[in-house]
Amino acid sequence: MRVLLVDHPLVAHKLTVLRDKDTASPVFRQLTEELVTLLAYEATRGVRVQPVEIETPVTTTIGTGLVKPTPLVVPILRAGLGMLEGMTRLVPTAEVGFLGMARNEETLEAITYAERLPDDLTGRQVFVLDPMLATGGTLREAIKFLFKRGAADVTCICLLAAPEGLATLQAELEDANVTIVLASIDEKLNENAYIVPGLGDAGDRLYGVVG
Ligand code: URA
Repeated sequence: MRVLLVDHPLVAHKLTVLRDKDTASPVFRQLTEELVTLLAYEATRGVRVQPVEIETPVTTTIGTGLVKPTPLVVPILRAGLGMLEGMTRLVPTAEVGFLGMARNEETLEAITYAERLPDDLTGRQVFVLDPMLATGGTLREAIKFLFKRGAADVTCICLLAAPEGLATLQAELEDANVTIVLASIDEKLNENAYIVPGLGDAGDRLYGVVG
Protein backbone atom coordinates (compact mmCIF):
# COMPACT_ATOMS: atom_id res chain seq x y z
CA MET A 1 0.00 0.00 0.00
CA ARG A 2 1.24 3.46 -0.92
CA VAL A 3 0.20 6.80 0.57
CA LEU A 4 0.36 9.94 -1.56
CA LEU A 5 -0.10 13.21 0.30
CA VAL A 6 -0.79 15.94 -2.24
CA ASP A 7 1.24 18.97 -1.25
CA HIS A 8 -0.09 21.99 -3.16
CA PRO A 9 -1.03 25.46 -1.90
CA LEU A 10 -4.44 25.39 -3.61
CA VAL A 11 -5.24 22.03 -2.03
CA ALA A 12 -4.28 23.42 1.39
CA HIS A 13 -6.32 26.58 0.83
CA LYS A 14 -9.49 24.80 -0.31
CA LEU A 15 -9.18 22.33 2.55
CA THR A 16 -8.91 25.19 5.06
CA VAL A 17 -12.20 26.66 3.83
CA LEU A 18 -13.82 23.20 4.05
CA ARG A 19 -12.66 22.83 7.65
CA ASP A 20 -14.24 26.15 8.68
CA LYS A 21 -17.48 25.40 10.51
CA ASP A 22 -19.07 28.53 9.03
CA THR A 23 -18.68 27.31 5.43
CA ALA A 24 -22.20 26.58 4.20
CA SER A 25 -23.24 23.45 2.24
CA PRO A 26 -23.31 25.01 -1.26
CA VAL A 27 -19.74 26.32 -0.89
CA PHE A 28 -18.68 23.10 0.79
CA ARG A 29 -19.99 21.06 -2.15
CA GLN A 30 -18.33 23.30 -4.72
CA LEU A 31 -14.97 23.23 -2.95
CA THR A 32 -15.12 19.47 -2.46
CA GLU A 33 -15.51 19.02 -6.21
CA GLU A 34 -12.61 21.39 -6.95
CA LEU A 35 -10.40 19.68 -4.39
CA VAL A 36 -11.19 16.23 -5.77
CA THR A 37 -10.26 17.34 -9.28
CA LEU A 38 -6.86 18.45 -7.96
CA LEU A 39 -6.36 15.18 -6.06
CA ALA A 40 -7.59 13.15 -9.04
CA TYR A 41 -4.93 14.72 -11.24
CA GLU A 42 -2.28 13.09 -9.03
CA ALA A 43 -4.31 9.93 -8.39
CA THR A 44 -4.63 9.14 -12.10
CA ARG A 45 -0.92 9.40 -12.87
CA GLY A 46 -0.84 5.60 -13.26
CA VAL A 47 -4.01 5.32 -15.33
CA ARG A 48 -3.58 2.75 -18.11
CA VAL A 49 -3.06 4.22 -21.56
CA GLN A 50 -2.12 2.91 -24.98
CA PRO A 51 -0.79 4.42 -28.20
CA VAL A 52 -3.53 5.41 -30.67
CA GLU A 53 -3.13 6.49 -34.24
CA ILE A 54 -4.99 9.66 -35.22
CA GLU A 55 -5.00 12.08 -38.10
CA THR A 56 -4.43 15.74 -37.40
CA PRO A 57 -5.42 18.19 -40.16
CA VAL A 58 -1.76 17.98 -41.23
CA THR A 59 -0.58 14.39 -40.83
CA THR A 60 -0.97 11.02 -39.15
CA THR A 61 0.49 10.73 -35.66
CA ILE A 62 0.53 8.50 -32.61
CA GLY A 63 -1.21 9.87 -29.53
CA THR A 64 -2.42 8.50 -26.19
CA GLY A 65 -5.77 6.86 -25.43
CA LEU A 66 -7.25 5.34 -22.26
CA VAL A 67 -7.21 1.53 -22.26
CA LYS A 68 -10.69 -0.03 -22.38
CA PRO A 69 -12.46 -0.84 -20.17
CA THR A 70 -11.87 2.62 -18.77
CA PRO A 71 -11.33 3.08 -15.01
CA LEU A 72 -14.19 2.34 -12.67
CA VAL A 73 -15.02 5.11 -10.19
CA VAL A 74 -16.78 4.02 -7.00
CA PRO A 75 -18.10 6.69 -4.64
CA ILE A 76 -18.94 5.35 -1.19
CA LEU A 77 -22.43 6.59 -0.33
CA ARG A 78 -23.33 8.97 1.07
CA ALA A 79 -20.41 11.40 1.42
CA GLY A 80 -18.40 10.01 -1.52
CA LEU A 81 -21.19 11.13 -3.83
CA GLY A 82 -20.09 14.72 -3.21
CA MET A 83 -16.74 13.82 -4.79
CA LEU A 84 -18.07 12.22 -7.98
CA GLU A 85 -18.46 15.33 -10.13
CA GLY A 86 -14.90 16.43 -9.35
CA MET A 87 -13.59 13.04 -10.48
CA THR A 88 -15.68 12.61 -13.64
CA ARG A 89 -14.78 16.13 -14.75
CA LEU A 90 -11.22 14.84 -15.12
CA VAL A 91 -12.08 11.35 -16.46
CA PRO A 92 -15.45 11.77 -18.22
CA THR A 93 -15.30 8.35 -19.88
CA ALA A 94 -14.89 6.48 -16.57
CA GLU A 95 -17.62 4.03 -15.59
CA VAL A 96 -19.29 4.67 -12.25
CA GLY A 97 -20.42 2.05 -9.73
CA PHE A 98 -21.81 2.60 -6.24
CA LEU A 99 -21.17 1.17 -2.80
CA GLY A 100 -23.42 2.20 0.07
CA MET A 101 -21.56 1.80 3.34
CA ALA A 102 -22.17 3.24 6.76
CA ARG A 103 -20.56 2.77 10.09
CA ASN A 104 -22.53 1.49 13.05
CA GLU A 105 -22.00 4.41 15.46
CA GLU A 106 -21.84 2.03 18.46
CA THR A 107 -19.55 -0.70 17.18
CA LEU A 108 -17.88 1.56 14.55
CA GLU A 109 -18.01 -1.47 12.18
CA ALA A 110 -18.69 -0.83 8.49
CA ILE A 111 -21.92 -2.23 7.04
CA THR A 112 -22.76 -2.47 3.32
CA TYR A 113 -26.36 -1.43 2.62
CA ALA A 114 -26.26 -0.98 -1.16
CA GLU A 115 -24.11 -2.12 -4.06
CA ARG A 116 -24.25 -1.47 -7.79
CA LEU A 117 -21.05 -2.74 -9.37
CA PRO A 118 -20.10 -5.07 -12.22
CA ASP A 119 -19.91 -8.71 -10.97
CA ASP A 120 -16.57 -9.18 -12.67
CA LEU A 121 -13.86 -6.59 -12.08
CA THR A 122 -11.02 -8.76 -13.37
CA GLY A 123 -8.06 -6.58 -14.27
CA ARG A 124 -9.95 -3.32 -13.69
CA GLN A 125 -8.41 -0.14 -12.28
CA VAL A 126 -10.73 1.16 -9.59
CA PHE A 127 -10.87 4.62 -7.99
CA VAL A 128 -12.74 4.76 -4.68
CA LEU A 129 -14.07 8.09 -3.43
CA ASP A 130 -14.55 8.55 0.31
CA PRO A 131 -13.77 11.91 1.93
CA MET A 132 -12.89 10.78 5.46
CA LEU A 133 -10.45 7.96 6.27
CA ALA A 134 -11.17 7.78 10.00
CA THR A 135 -10.89 4.28 11.55
CA GLY A 136 -10.20 2.83 8.10
CA GLY A 137 -13.01 0.26 8.58
CA THR A 138 -15.16 1.39 5.65
CA LEU A 139 -12.29 1.62 3.19
CA ARG A 140 -10.87 -1.72 4.30
CA GLU A 141 -14.21 -3.43 3.61
CA ALA A 142 -14.66 -1.60 0.29
CA ILE A 143 -11.14 -2.48 -0.89
CA LYS A 144 -11.53 -6.16 0.09
CA PHE A 145 -14.87 -6.27 -1.73
CA LEU A 146 -13.32 -4.87 -4.93
CA PHE A 147 -10.34 -7.25 -4.87
CA LYS A 148 -12.70 -10.20 -4.30
CA ARG A 149 -14.42 -9.24 -7.56
CA GLY A 150 -11.07 -9.23 -9.34
CA ALA A 151 -9.91 -5.59 -9.34
CA ALA A 152 -6.25 -5.23 -10.38
CA ASP A 153 -5.53 -2.14 -8.34
CA VAL A 154 -7.47 0.23 -6.13
CA THR A 155 -6.75 3.93 -5.64
CA CYS A 156 -8.68 5.66 -2.86
CA ILE A 157 -9.11 9.42 -3.01
CA CYS A 158 -9.82 10.92 0.41
CA LEU A 159 -9.77 14.48 1.69
CA LEU A 160 -8.54 13.69 5.19
CA ALA A 161 -7.08 10.74 7.06
CA ALA A 162 -6.41 10.00 10.71
CA PRO A 163 -3.02 8.37 11.40
CA GLU A 164 -4.84 5.56 13.26
CA GLY A 165 -6.93 4.65 10.22
CA LEU A 166 -3.95 4.79 7.90
CA ALA A 167 -1.99 2.49 10.23
CA THR A 168 -4.88 -0.01 10.27
CA LEU A 169 -5.02 -0.09 6.47
CA GLN A 170 -1.25 -0.28 6.18
CA ALA A 171 -1.15 -3.28 8.54
CA GLU A 172 -3.89 -5.15 6.68
CA LEU A 173 -3.09 -4.18 3.11
CA GLU A 174 0.67 -3.86 3.23
CA ASP A 175 1.29 -5.96 0.11
CA ALA A 176 -1.89 -5.03 -1.74
CA ASN A 177 -1.91 -2.94 -4.90
CA VAL A 178 -3.57 -0.01 -3.14
CA THR A 179 -2.80 3.72 -3.23
CA ILE A 180 -4.33 6.23 -0.83
CA VAL A 181 -4.33 9.80 -2.15
CA LEU A 182 -4.94 12.50 0.46
CA ALA A 183 -5.06 16.24 1.00
CA SER A 184 -4.05 15.93 4.68
CA ILE A 185 -3.09 13.52 7.43
CA ASP A 186 -4.63 15.05 10.53
CA GLU A 187 -3.65 14.77 14.17
CA LYS A 188 -5.79 11.96 15.57
CA LEU A 189 -9.21 10.39 16.08
CA ASN A 190 -11.29 11.53 19.04
CA GLU A 191 -13.32 9.24 21.32
CA ASN A 192 -16.24 9.31 18.84
CA ALA A 193 -13.95 8.36 15.96
CA TYR A 194 -14.10 11.82 14.43
CA ILE A 195 -10.97 13.15 12.78
CA VAL A 196 -9.26 15.99 14.71
CA PRO A 197 -9.06 18.81 13.70
CA GLY A 198 -11.05 17.38 10.75
CA LEU A 199 -14.06 19.06 9.22
CA GLY A 200 -16.93 17.40 11.10
CA ASP A 201 -19.36 14.96 9.49
CA ALA A 202 -18.63 15.18 5.76
CA GLY A 203 -22.08 13.86 4.75
CA ASP A 204 -23.85 16.40 6.95
CA ARG A 205 -21.63 19.23 5.72
CA LEU A 206 -22.36 18.28 2.09
CA TYR A 207 -26.07 17.52 2.32
CA GLY A 208 -27.31 18.80 5.67
CA VAL A 209 -28.29 16.72 8.68
CA VAL A 210 -30.88 14.02 7.98
CA GLY A 211 -32.65 12.18 10.76
N1 URA B 1 -16.65 10.59 9.08
C1 URA B 1 -16.84 11.94 8.98
O1 URA B 1 -17.69 12.40 8.24
N2 URA B 1 -16.05 12.74 9.75
C2 URA B 1 -15.12 12.27 10.59
O2 URA B 1 -14.42 13.06 11.24
C3 URA B 1 -14.95 10.87 10.66
C4 URA B 1 -15.71 10.06 9.90
